[in-house]
Amino acid sequence: MEWKSFPAHAASRKTDALVRFVRADTSIKLPDPDLQKAARAAAKAGEFAGKPNQTALIHGGTGGKRALLVGLGGAADDDHEALRTAAGFAARALDARGVARATFLIDDAAEACAIVEGVGLGMYRFDQYRNQADAPTLTRGVVCPADGRISGLAKPVGESAAIVAAVGFARDLGNLPGNICTPAFLGREARKLASAKLKVNVYGRADIKRMRMGAFSAVAQGSKNEPKLVEFRYRGAGTNKKTLTFVGKGVTFDTGGISIKPPPGMEDMKFDMGGGAAVFGFMHLVAALQPKVNIHALVPATDNMPDGAAYRPGDILTARNGKTIEVHSTDAEGRLLLCDALAYAAEKKPQCIVDLATLTGACVVALADAACGLFGNDDDLIAAFRSASASSGESAWHMPIYPRYTEMMRGTYADLQNSGSRWGGACTAAAFLQEFVADQPWVHLDIAGVAWADATKGYRSKGATGYGVRLLWEFLKSRR
Ligand code: BES
Ligand code: MN
Ligand code: ZN
Repeated sequence: MEWKSFPAHAASRKTDALVRFVRADTSIKLPDPDLQKAARAAAKAGEFAGKPNQTALIHGGTGGKRALLVGLGGAADDDHEALRTAAGFAARALDARGVARATFLIDDAAEACAIVEGVGLGMYRFDQYRNQADAPTLTRGVVCPADGRISGLAKPVGESAAIVAAVGFARDLGNLPGNICTPAFLGREARKLASAKLKVNVYGRADIKRMRMGAFSAVAQGSKNEPKLVEFRYRGAGTNKKTLTFVGKGVTFDTGGISIKPPPGMEDMKFDMGGGAAVFGFMHLVAALQPKVNIHALVPATDNMPDGAAYRPGDILTARNGKTIEVHSTDAEGRLLLCDALAYAAEKKPQCIVDLATLTGACVVALADAACGLFGNDDDLIAAFRSASASSGESAWHMPIYPRYTEMMRGTYADLQNSGSRWGGACTAAAFLQEFVADQPWVHLDIAGVAWADATKGYRSKGATGYGVRLLWEFLKSRR
């Protein structure tokens, strides 16, 4: 999608369709008097009432001009998530009607951003592996102040376009299957992002062992695919400035290992690197927008396979921080990669550590796809994520780590066990991770319910959502 911003009189000349978002209780205002009349007639006839995400195409403007009306329901003026969602619906409606260039009428810069994001994300396709795919028709967008001028639109619109590209990158990585998106593939994708300011290291099986990451190594030992630990170091601020650390679970396919998963739905376990994909998308955005902060990011990547060499239930592992773990389920593998990466991250005493992981089915049971689980050991950091979640539209719900959960993860023969009882699975997983952050300020986002979508709706399309990229960016903006 290519974006421009123009004043109303210039933009409406060359467009295929004007797009106007309409709140349920407000009158429709369009710059063309004939279109305006036609729109009011449509409303009177009951064809359009401004209901959430309702669309109606209005004909009869000067020179054959058309307008798409898009409902916002009772959304508040500053509800940008409602606008983003409606823009996703609008994009699909325009595309389906063969509109190539659409002009979106806006009232301020924040609306322009929400529209650029909603349209861009709504137009996302994953067609690389189809022999027959129709190219999208909607390729050009214009944001245009409904009345008067709004100066300085180019920068925020450019930032939103960069966000769309970064989320698209994360979605692509998520949608790519386990035979293509291997740990080595992720390593190559990471290297492509490298620059003078963004250093990339990719460690292999021997390195990971040498780094005393005994838990990560154990998960990887049953796979022919070599595991990779991807490390990004971005320097956007002075050496004396503290670093923000991000860690993403990169399980490129989770069979469950020896504690193998039942077949139905197992194909979705290609999305088990959704946390890693979010970190990759975020670094893509950082590379594009060059924020003035320092960042350390880690993606431990492996698949989890059953094999003659695979790790077993009962095995006792030693993590990088020296803690021992007895394996109760080889399917609780995510926390085993993360614990080593978190311990490594914590040694450097950063300003904060943030991890994202499709960690537990229990978190999906608790929250479905409405929010990710937000856990942590630092009230300020948790508060920062709650507010970033509100402004980004990527919901995060605060969940507890009671001492009871830590107790539930004590091992019989080792310090810890990698899975507890059936109950409180998302919380006990978080309590397990907490044992590896050495009291550094940390939050954990369990994104199991939000990393991929079962159906296309609003600006989300079926498959990987790229969840986390926008949340991390909002969080970063609160820190710089
Ligand atoms: N990747 C899964 C978690 C998952 C399940 C994500 C369903 C999204 C949808 C994770 O590795 C896993 O298998 N977790 C187990 C943990 C259990 C064995 C303690 C789970 O949630 O069942
Ligand atoms: Mn698993
Ligand atoms: Zn997993």
